[in-house]
Amino acid sequence: MKGVIVGLLLAALAFGAGMYFGRSGKQEMTISSSTQGASYSGGFKAEGAAATGSITSVAGPAPTNVVVVKDGESIQAAIKAAPKGTIIRVMPGTYHETVYVDKDDIRIIGVIEAGRRAVLDGEKKLNDAILYSGNNFVAENLEIRNYKGNGIMGQAGNNFEIRNNVIAESGVYGIFPQLGQNGIVEHNVVSGIADAAIYIGMSDNILVANNDVFDSVAGIEIENSRHAIVEHNYVHNNSGGLLAFVTPGLPIKDTVDVIFRNNFVVGNNHPNFGAPGSTVSGIPAGTGILIMAADDVVIEGNIISDNKVSGIIITDHAHASNITADPESDPNSDRVKILDNVMLNNGYDTITEAKALLLADGKVGAKNLDIVRVGPSPGSCIINRHQYVTAGVSDFAECNFTNTSTTVNYLLPPVPPREIKPGERGKVVYLGICTGCHTYNGRMIGPPVQVIQALYMDNPQGLADFIAKPTKKRDDYPEMPPQDYLDPETRLAVAQYMLQVTN
Ligand code: HEC
Repeated sequence: MKGVIVGLLLAALAFGAGMYFGRSGKQEMTISSSTQGASYSGGFKAEGAAATGSITSVAGPAPTNVVVVKDGESIQAAIKAAPKGTIIRVMPGTYHETVYVDKDDIRIIGVIEAGRRAVLDGEKKLNDAILYSGNNFVAENLEIRNYKGNGIMGQAGNNFEIRNNVIAESGVYGIFPQLGQNGIVEHNVVSGIADAAIYIGMSDNILVANNDVFDSVAGIEIENSRHAIVEHNYVHNNSGGLLAFVTPGLPIKDTVDVIFRNNFVVGNNHPNFGAPGSTVSGIPAGTGILIMAADDVVIEGNIISDNKVSGIIITDHAHASNITADPESDPNSDRVKILDNVMLNNGYDTITEAKALLLADGKVGAKNLDIVRVGPSPGSCIINRHQYVTAGVSDFAECNFTNTSTTVNYLLPPVPPREIKPGERGKVVYLGICTGCHTYNGRMIGPPVQVIQALYMDNPQGLADFIAKPTKKRDDYPEMPPQDYLDPETRLAVAQYMLQVTN
């Protein structure tokens, strides 16, 4: 958020001061009641007769088979042998393994006995606890610790439910469905994650509810995704609490239609320990909610308190650090909608840039800052603005609705499994796996694809060999986790695909 901001600030200052001194007296106050006003009529509407709203389960057909895995046995072996439609019931115990699920209709369900769970422990040696690419996948009641890469990562699977898991100290992403449609992430406790504790990547129709997320860099992140509701979560002591943003250089170019409601977003002041240069390492520690280049984000009914930089930051790509612009992504946060929230004691130790914006808004001597906006956000609105200390939102219109109560959720009856046509394997693996860490033109966890293309343009086999058994190449990057669970043909297919990507 630093750097670029300063030049624009001077302009904002001059402009703001003019507005302030030009104003005659105070703006008139508009007071509306969130319980009586109109409900939000935007947002996702399911096509056809399928009514959304009452759906609480998305994982498809009921299982027809149960297999029990006991302490000392292998979860992976059980999955390998299991037909579709199997519940893998995992008894309490400790399991040191990475579990791959590449078939549909598998449910891994831990058994909790007198508080003892099935623990997947990576001992800081293994990269991932669970990687699933199958559709209709469920992971429930597990405890996941000490992995280096991901707790639970989805790679292009639709209709998933990730529920009641405890995930701690497990690498870069705690729960990370990538490229999935129709999913529920609920009642998980996730902590100590170096990037996003819950990261919804390039996905659609998602519900993230009732999770406890803390001690991570980013709490819950909705990134390059559409139609997501994030509600009833307790998000505390992260560097940034709730985030909706667009990472440029990914194949899906927008984040649209997100509701953040009824969450506790409290004291997200954890020092930022994101990998240097990564997108989240640019989040100022002390951010409650961050919106960057995401459109149609509604913020309602949250309790947002004690976030020292600001309760809500709305920004664009131009003002963010560690961002390389993408000509195909709209850089602005359009149509932000801020309804009633309880905001207390935010921005008590804010950054210089935000202080300057407060001054520009004529808020001399403000001790707190609830909402700050930099960069254009056309079509945005707010209600009862007088209750917040704001900077840069005076041009927001009055919203013509006051609540989202007619929108229950954006889930669908089970959608068809993601079909992978012959010849598309490389593309789906690229989208579902590689873009978790590589963007086309900027640094993410790994180097930009453009850099990789320059290295391997005439050598797809060399690239395929590298990803099977990566060696340490760069001092300023972490090691890349091996992708040796992909078969040799798939590795070559993804190598060829990566080398011809153009954005
Ligand atoms: C968990 C994050 C992550 C994922 C997922 C990932 N990479 Fe990487 N990748 C990295 C990091 C970090 C590096 C830099 C490693 C280094 O320089 O030592 C890297 C480096 C590379 C390189 C550069 C090799 C060189 O010789 O410099 C290639 C090629 C590559 N990745 C391909 C891929 C492909 C293909 C995929 C998908 C199948 C993929 N990566 C998935 C993190 C990831």
